[in-house]
Amino acid sequence: MKIVEVKNVRKQFGSSPVLCGIDLDVEKSEVVVIMGPSGSGKSTFLRCLTNLETPDEGDIRIGPHVIRINGRVTREQKKEIREMRKKTGFVFQSFNLFPHKTALENVMEGPLTIRNLPAAEAREAAGSLLEKVGLGDRKDHYPAQLSGGQQQRVAIARALSLDPTVMLYDEPTSALDPELVREVLQVIKELALEGMTMIIVTHEMGFAKDVADRVIFMDGGVIVEQGKPEQVFDHPQHERTKRFLSSTK
Ligand SMILES: Nc1ncnc2c1ncn2[C@@H]1O[C@H](COP(=O)(O)OP(=O)(O)OP(=O)(O)O)[C@@H](O)[C@H]1O
Ligand SMILES: [Mg+2]
Repeated sequence: MKIVEVKNVRKQFGSSPVLCGIDLDVEKSEVVVIMGPSGSGKSTFLRCLTNLETPDEGDIRIGPHVIRINGRVTREQKKEIREMRKKTGFVFQSFNLFPHKTALENVMEGPLTIRNLPAAEAREAAGSLLEKVGLGDRKDHYPAQLSGGQQQRVAIARALSLDPTVMLYDEPTSALDPELVREVLQVIKELALEGMTMIIVTHEMGFAKDVADRVIFMDGGVIVEQGKPEQVFDHPQHERTKRFLSSTK
C-alpha cells in the first residue's frame, strides 16, 4: 500500500531550478534513504513534501491528504497542508527544541495545542515516548542540560507525538559528535523495525545499508538512480553516483 505519492515536484529559487520534477512513491513501513551531494536539493525536497517550502508545481499525497500545486496556493489547499503537516513528523539537523521547556514539555506541546489533549493524558503519552527513545530518566531536563544525541532523541519523540503517517529526517546526525551518532541511529532503526514509514536524508552509509529498504541518489534536482542499498552502493549504474560514492569513501 502506497502511503506517500509524489508526482512532478518542481521548485525554482529565483532563476535556479532546484527540483526538476521529482516523483516518489513510498510504501507503508518502507524506509527510504536519500543521498546526494551538497546543493542537490535533498532538504528542499523534504521541505516541499510538507510545504515548509511551497513547490512551484507538483502533486503530493501523504495518507489521505492530497495537495496539487500549480502556481498559487489556494485557501482550501492551505487547510489541507495544515492537516497533512500534523500527520508528518519532521526531524531536523538542528534539534529545534524549545529551550525554555523541559524534554517532557517539548514532547507534550503538539498534543496539547494541536490535538487539545487533556494535560494529564498528554503528559503520560509524552512520558512513554521519552521512555521509548531511552530518556525516561531525563524527562524534566531542559535542552541545555542534555547532550546533542539526547536532544535529538527528544526531537524524535516530539515528532512521534502526533502519531505521524510518515517521519521525515533531514541529516538527523550530522550536527552530532561522532560518539553520539549511534544512539540516535539506533532509535531510528527501532522505529523502522516497528514498521514506521520513513524518508531519511543522511550520509551515514552503514546505517543506510543496515536499515534502508531503498536508497535514492539525487543530484542536480533529479533522482539519478535508486534501488536496494547493495545495488546502489555496490553496483551504481550512473557516473554521477559512482563519483559521489568514491568521494565519500
Ligand atoms: N530559501 C532558499 N532561497 C534560495 N536558494 C535556496 C533556498 N534554499 C535552498 N536554496 C538553494 O537550493 C539548492 C539546493 O539546496 P538544498 O538545501 O535543498 O540542498 P541539499 O541537497 O539539502 O544540500 P546539503 O547536503 O548541503 O544539505 C542550493 O543551491 C541552495 O543554495
Ligand atoms: Mg540539506
